[in-house]
Amino acid sequence: MENKKYKTVLIGTGRIGFLLGFDKKREQPASHTMALLKNKKIELCAGCDTDLERLKIWQKYVKSHGSEGLVFESGSELYKNIKKIDIAVVAVNESAHLEECIRAIEARPRLVILEKPVALNSFEAQKIADCAEKNKVPVMVNHERRFDKNYALAMQWMEKIGEIQKVEAELDSGLRIYAKEFEKDGTYSLLHDGTHLVDIVRFLCGTELEKPVVTGVFKDEKKIVRNFCAHYNFCKSEKFGDVPEICIKMSGRSKFFEFRIEILGTEGKICIGNGIADFYLRKQSKLYTGFYSLEKQKVRLPKKTQYFSGMVENAVGFLDGKMPLLSPLKEAIEDLKVLEEIKEKL
Ligand SMILES: NC(=O)c1ccc[n+]([C@@H]2O[C@H](COP(=O)([O-])OP(=O)(O)OC[C@H]3O[C@@H](n4cnc5c(N)ncnc54)[C@H](O)[C@@H]3O)[C@@H](O)[C@H]2O)c1
Repeated sequence: MENKKYKTVLIGTGRIGFLLGFDKKREQPASHTMALLKNKKIELCAGCDTDLERLKIWQKYVKSHGSEGLVFESGSELYKNIKKIDIAVVAVNESAHLEECIRAIEARPRLVILEKPVALNSFEAQKIADCAEKNKVPVMVNHERRFDKNYALAMQWMEKIGEIQKVEAELDSGLRIYAKEFEKDGTYSLLHDGTHLVDIVRFLCGTELEKPVVTGVFKDEKKIVRNFCAHYNFCKSEKFGDVPEICIKMSGRSKFFEFRIEILGTEGKICIGNGIADFYLRKQSKLYTGFYSLEKQKVRLPKKTQYFSGMVENAVGFLDGKMPLLSPLKEAIEDLKVLEEIKEKL
């Protein structure tokens, strides 16, 4: 099996499926197409999108990069024509996750890669999980930070900073956070971006997030939530013992985008996020005799975080029988439940 190429199909050739692969500022590969084409063990043989213009551009691109580039206007057409699929990637808008993910699972590939969030809500997500179980098809969810080398480093540093005292995770943007009317298509940041924030906190700390106390809820003139802070007390973690306090904060009225997590230990601190990877340890203070201060450490960061190629490598490693899935469906469904508990209190 070592030299076998995994036959892969892509459903959804939009931003994350394809177009972000052209963003010059992002670390590349930044889309499924570019990450799949880059992996030597993947054969990207077909794509599908309901937007035929996009599909044509996709076809031209992948053909020029050695792919067969078969294209279809719907998932059902694709699965009728392409058999023995190893990996089906579902990268359509969240309102179509349930339908397209179930269609993909029922085609019985060896693995489904599903974009985050799993679905519009945990009820739909459970339908996907039931279908996956019935058909014995594993599903992984692209919560990309789980594959990111900077976060892997942060995970190692969690062992160096003493006992965890406090975790603050914050996402600031100008996007609306939540109002009930957006539940039908999932176009709100609590779901869209909140899933990343909650997922990486749970991943790093190994804790569940339950029974939040939600404060600082700010709504704009249209009653759309624009700020909140969800506090969790004494979160149990097998790895790190009880974490006394975790705060998940979101702003949807910032004129900038920031994603950051600060983990304060008894002997150090980790600051990690988009464009941030700083690590601190206690050292004898330069300011006061007999005191210790936190000092930023010189740490060699990986040249590339490989957040996207690492995800594809995990899929390949899983099919090779060499790696467990780092972002299994079950974990992503837990993330949805955390978001829903917050939502009830907004
Ligand atoms: N992991 C990440 O960081 C990340 C980043 C961006 C988007 N996403 C997620 O990826 C998904 C897609 O987002 P996007 O920004 O690429 O959206 P997009 O609108 O740019 O692309 C979605 C594509 O899917 C196609 N599509 C929709 N329904 C379809 C169907 N039933 N069959 C075939 N094609 C269909 C659309 O025509 C479109 O081309 C969303 O779930 C989003 O949350 C994840």
